[in-house]
Amino acid sequence: MNKPFYITTPLYYVNAKPHIGHAYTNVICDTFARWRKFIGQDVFFLTGTDEHGTKIEKVARAAGQEPRAYVDAIVPEFKKLWEILGIEYDYFIRTTDEGHKQYVAKVLRELEAKGDIYKAVYKGWYCTPCESFWTDLQLKEGKCPDCQRDVQELSEENYFFKLSKHQEWLIQYIQENPDFIRPEMRKNEILGFLRQPLEDLSITRLRSRLTWGIDYPNSKDHVVYVWFDALLNYVSAVHQPEVETKRGKNLWPADVHMVGKDILRQHAVYWLIMLRAMGLEMPKTIVAHGWWTMHGAKVSKSRGNAVDPIELCSKYTVDAFRYFLLHEVTLGADGAFSEDLMAERYTTDLANDLGNLCFRVTSMLEKYFGGKIPDVNLPGDSTPYHASLKMYSQVSESMNDWNPRGALDVIWSVIKSANQYVDQQKPWSIAKDPARKEELEGVLLTLSETVVHAAVLLTSFFPVTSKKILASFKLSLEWQVKSAADFEKRLLTSGTQIDKGTVLFPKLDDEKNVPAKG
Ligand code: MSP
Repeated sequence: MNKPFYITTPLYYVNAKPHIGHAYTNVICDTFARWRKFIGQDVFFLTGTDEHGTKIEKVARAAGQEPRAYVDAIVPEFKKLWEILGIEYDYFIRTTDEGHKQYVAKVLRELEAKGDIYKAVYKGWYCTPCESFWTDLQLKEGKCPDCQRDVQELSEENYFFKLSKHQEWLIQYIQENPDFIRPEMRKNEILGFLRQPLEDLSITRLRSRLTWGIDYPNSKDHVVYVWFDALLNYVSAVHQPEVETKRGKNLWPADVHMVGKDILRQHAVYWLIMLRAMGLEMPKTIVAHGWWTMHGAKVSKSRGNAVDPIELCSKYTVDAFRYFLLHEVTLGADGAFSEDLMAERYTTDLANDLGNLCFRVTSMLEKYFGGKIPDVNLPGDSTPYHASLKMYSQVSESMNDWNPRGALDVIWSVIKSANQYVDQQKPWSIAKDPARKEELEGVLLTLSETVVHAAVLLTSFFPVTSKKILASFKLSLEWQVKSAADFEKRLLTSGTQIDKGTVLFPKLDDEKNVPAKG
């Protein structure tokens, strides 16, 4: 079996319903997963939920529920959102799954036997929201260096995972593999962090303070630290019998871990060291994306500024929401979310550029040729059709560079040039002269081919709209394009009877920013 392209999302905390930040990571991963399938690769896409730890225990108790009942009730909210957003994951892992818990216990026993884990008294500071221990030196003005919130003083016996001995090779590995941590700026942050001596990681919590966690093997007093438990999901998932039977045993290493910039250190330092200690290969790439902010602050449930993705999808369509997330910021940078901005993009890029082009082309085909794809040779000069053929290589380049925004820009420049071509050629004037019928056929074939080439590439980004366009041109809805040569050709058959133009992105009703009915 060929090794599938293995892509992971972080496991989401289930202390609240998912918001735009969670939707963002999964939309990015889904787009890359779809793209890899599109270019002919076998893909394994993993997502799931991180269900243990203080944060979750607290909200469950506050809601008067046992943690298990609480998490069981909230996980379907995540699955529901992934379904609405068209996230085509292959496996959903929950850290409360029995198979995962057993895998974590097995790893702990092995690492302890190898001497990578030891027991010692921990004295220091604890940040509950971040579930992190800090030393005096690490605190920033007496507060948690990650979230700037208050910390509690602690002294307790815990199990520790040895990190310090791994510092040297890790620095060297990151330096020798320039594309391993993306973007560059984040790689430099990690290298900066690694300039300080690494303190060993406390990987247990006292059961007297936290009951909601995986039991530490052979200890009545300890449960496993939520991060140590959660990071292991990337390997425990691929060892589940269900996955091994269907997808084989060679899924590891992951090709990409997609993470937010706030959790890069856990992935690019702790996780890599865990893997090395376990004798496993490094993942191929770790990509850190930025944050969605509102009024200058990270969008998060605890800040009370969470934006409901389901509401945005029902107002603007799923594809518009996906487009906004993927296009508004370059992967890696932060983005300021505002609904006004989203409405503006909907109108300019989707309704006016893409929607209008499709509507114009299908309506003109209908009006001038009874909806039939003309039987004519394509005009030889430089037209949007010729530009559209180059899109495959350009989009591939952007996607290989983890830049979905760049890919969408390529497609949009062709869509815009096709609209300009309509304005320049003025098919409605050509149509007045019966002697120019062939010219009119050439213009409309050019435009039709351009639209369908764009739609084929958009299948990774816009699962719904791309299929609507392809369906109206009676083309297959499932595409695999393994090489530029397969793309750089005519896709439409002359004589095909297409469907009448429909409005893909209805104009927004200004009052409520909702697509107008009809
Ligand atoms: N449970 C850990 C991850 C464990 S991975 C083994 C966690 N969960 S989280 O729910 O807090 O965050 C999950 C992901 O959502 C992170 O990548 C985080 O960056 C992302 N986002 C959460 N809020 C975000 C924004 N406001 N904007 C963009 N993404 C952010 O961390």
